[in-house]
Amino acid sequence: MTTTAQEPDTEADLSDRPASVRGRGVVLTPLDVDDAELLQRWRSDPVAAHALGSWPRPLTALRERLERDIGSNGRDDFLILLPDGTPVGHTAVFNQDYGDATAELELVLAPEHRGRGLALDALNALTDLTFGELPLHRLQADTHATNDAALATLAAAGFAREGVRRSVCIHRGRRHDVAVLSLLRPEWEAQSRPKAWELPMPPETSG
Ligand SMILES: CC(C)(COP(=O)(O)OP(=O)(O)OC[C@H]1O[C@@H](n2cnc3c(N)ncnc32)[C@H](O)[C@@H]1OP(=O)(O)O)[C@@H](O)C(=O)NCCC(=O)NCCS
Repeated sequence: MTTTAQEPDTEADLSDRPASVRGRGVVLTPLDVDDAELLQRWRSDPVAAHALGSWPRPLTALRERLERDIGSNGRDDFLILLPDGTPVGHTAVFNQDYGDATAELELVLAPEHRGRGLALDALNALTDLTFGELPLHRLQADTHATNDAALATLAAAGFAREGVRRSVCIHRGRRHDVAVLSLLRPEWEAQSRPKAWELPMPPETSG
């Protein structure tokens, strides 16, 4: 690894990574421990740090968490790549509960790649992968009730707003409400958009 902590290689070419699922304009590939620096940078961006509400932890702790999760049946993390292999974000299915057939989702894009429809594309690909391959019935996403970008992305992906957990977290000295949204398997099945596996394969890239 020759990247510095200050300026990780966000324009890296990761096109040799295996595709778990392809969206219209993104590919999801399993996250590896060496992707920790990318994640650390994306999660530290002020917008994402506010949205995710996580306490700052050192890179070592993130690497250890990723190492632990790789062997876990309860969590799957993916890098979001452009078709040319550029890493643009991170998404995950976690708290997988095969008794109740439920799980939760999270999604963060690199700041420079937001606002271009990539989040919706990645979320659709993730719900296709999850409902297509796992016997789950309910996917939940929680986000600050004021996170308009996340709420719009989730709504566009078919998630229904269930309600608001009032005053559940603290940030910058004041308490915040969190909106709870979910997508149920029959709602996903009824969506008219093509599923990920129905999308045309991208043209072969040479070299
Ligand atoms: C939430 C996030 C992933 C959305 O990414 P994005 O690239 O902005 O989203 P997209 O470009 O795919 O847009 C998806 C929808 O959100 C809307 N949107 C995007 N930014 C918006 C904003 N600031 N306000 C209102 N709507 C917004 C788009 O118009 C689009 O809606 P449409 O399909 O009805 O047109 C991104 O903002 C992010 O990484 N935020 C920090 C982390 C976070 O909040 N994660 C969510 C917690 S689970």
